[in-house]
Amino acid sequence: MKLLPLSLSLIAIFALVGCDRIDPDSPLGKRKAIYQQMLDTKEDLGGMLRGRLAFDPQGFVDGAARLDELSRQPWQYYPEAKEEQSDAREDVWQQQERFNQMARELEARTAALVATTAQAPVTAAGVESAFQRVEDACEACHKEFRAY
Ligand code: HEC
Repeated sequence: MKLLPLSLSLIAIFALVGCDRIDPDSPLGKRKAIYQQMLDTKEDLGGMLRGRLAFDPQGFVDGAARLDELSRQPWQYYPEAKEEQSDAREDVWQQQERFNQMARELEARTAALVATTAQAPVTAAGVESAFQRVEDACEACHKEFRAY
């Protein structure tokens, strides 16, 4: 019976080592958190255009600015070599030029989305196609560089 606490803590240690918990302060943890914020922001904007959320012009303007800011951030957190736990394909490192090109493409498209929100009145019809181009940029890169 005396051994029980020890074996329980050993189980706890093995459980910790066994599951691939990602350190939030690691480059992978940081870029995943940014990607998640990008997704949440994009989903809110898309929700307003697809009727899941009420279209709120100021909310859309703010969300577009936030998405533009976020779209510039993941790239600095790609280290020299791929981490084991990453869902990125090896191609991110082997075809860096292409990857960077697609990152710049997203940045250009979020900037274009912000530009469409610069003139009042901001309407769903006015921003729809620029938003679609942003979504397409996310999807195009995931197709080439993300392993599901
Ligand atoms: C230039 C390429 C590129 C673009 C553009 C891109 N992503 Fe990604 N994304 C990736 C890669 C690669 C991964 C795999 C995770 C990693 O880097 O290890 C990923 C992963 C993700 C994840 C999963 C994060 C996790 O917790 O595992 C989300 C969510 C995501 N992206 C959202 C988006 C959204 C939303 C956009 C567009 C606004 C976008 N991405 C644009 C390359 C891209």
